[in-house]
Amino acid sequence: MTTGTARPPLGVRPEPDILCSDLVRIYRSRDVEVQALQGLDLRVERGEMVALVGASGSGKSTLLGILSGLDEPSAGRAVVAGQDLAGLTVRQRTAFHRSRVGFVWQQTARNLLPFLTAAQNVAAVLAVSGGSRRRDGASRVGTGRADRVAEVLELVGVPELRDRFPSELSGGQQQRVALAVAMANRPTVLLADEPTGALDEETSGEVLEAMERVNRQSGVTTLIVTHDASVAEHVERTIQIRDGRTSTEVVRSRSGEDGAVTAEEYSVIDRVGRLQLPQAFQESLGLHDRVRLSLQSDHVAVRPAQQADDADSQDREAERAPRHAGGAGEGGRA
Ligand SMILES: Nc1ncnc2c1ncn2[C@@H]1O[C@H](COP(=O)(O)OP(=O)(O)OP(=O)(O)O)[C@@H](O)[C@H]1O
Ligand SMILES: [Mg+2]
Repeated sequence: MTTGTARPPLGVRPEPDILCSDLVRIYRSRDVEVQALQGLDLRVERGEMVALVGASGSGKSTLLGILSGLDEPSAGRAVVAGQDLAGLTVRQRTAFHRSRVGFVWQQTARNLLPFLTAAQNVAAVLAVSGGSRRRDGASRVGTGRADRVAEVLELVGVPELRDRFPSELSGGQQQRVALAVAMANRPTVLLADEPTGALDEETSGEVLEAMERVNRQSGVTTLIVTHDASVAEHVERTIQIRDGRTSTEVVRSRSGEDGAVTAEEYSVIDRVGRLQLPQAFQESLGLHDRVRLSLQSDHVAVRPAQQADDADSQDREAERAPRHAGGAGEGGRA
């Protein structure tokens, strides 16, 4: 008989809160088909705060739609907060969205009900879910709800705005209240689609700081989609998405005595070995259609096919030449 709590063996990573493998989303209309996600892989650990960046149309909102349970993948796997999202009914996806996910949209008006105050907006979420579900599964009602409203407005740093209507708030204040609404239910995962897209630089900074504080204090796993380069300063990992796939990752870490921040860029290689070469590398060396790979002792070289073929034929020439010369010499010695 086994006793005690089950812990993962040493060296085994705990389940991440977001795990996508080979995720595909195809939009089909009458005569066109758009493959918005083309086999995307993504892993976000529990409690991490990650930014997702990418050009317009690269599939960022599509991905958030799936992760939040609002949309369904066409193929591949997406597991969020321990829930496999494939094959759920609409009702199951809605229940998942309400209980596990906090969502902040770019459009401030989409996040808040205009006829309710900040506090009432937060309370409305708790009323729909029937209390304030705790991460440990316990539920509180009545006065507990009022406490939670105050707590969550405090968490995002706007307790003094509780009785204001959205129209009486600035854009940045609205987004912070939206963050409070998203956090009301103690979600496992917080997803934000361009939360600072409509704000100026200074106000964006305040909203991102609030998100950072929420992430640190509540441990909610956070994924922010953005065009805003300054977001990178607030997160440890920035993942780039290109043509419906994750392509590169920038990991920031503090090192040295002065705690200086260093940023390292990595390319993402998926389970079957695919990776994307940065556009600039492709253009600089004319890498297109086909390339030649060769395994070196500690790296893999990628060369334009033509250049590699020329180099190979030169190598063969070079090999042949000494053999002929050596052959004559050997012949002479024999
Ligand atoms: N409902 C839809 N029907 C058909 N095609 C869609 C639909 N939604 C998105 N697409 C297409 O899927 C691709 C990815 O769109 P998506 O909205 O995910 O991009 P995005 O990275 O969020 O872009 P942006 O930065 O402009 O918000 C685009 O080519 C888009 O035109
Ligand atoms: Mg989008």
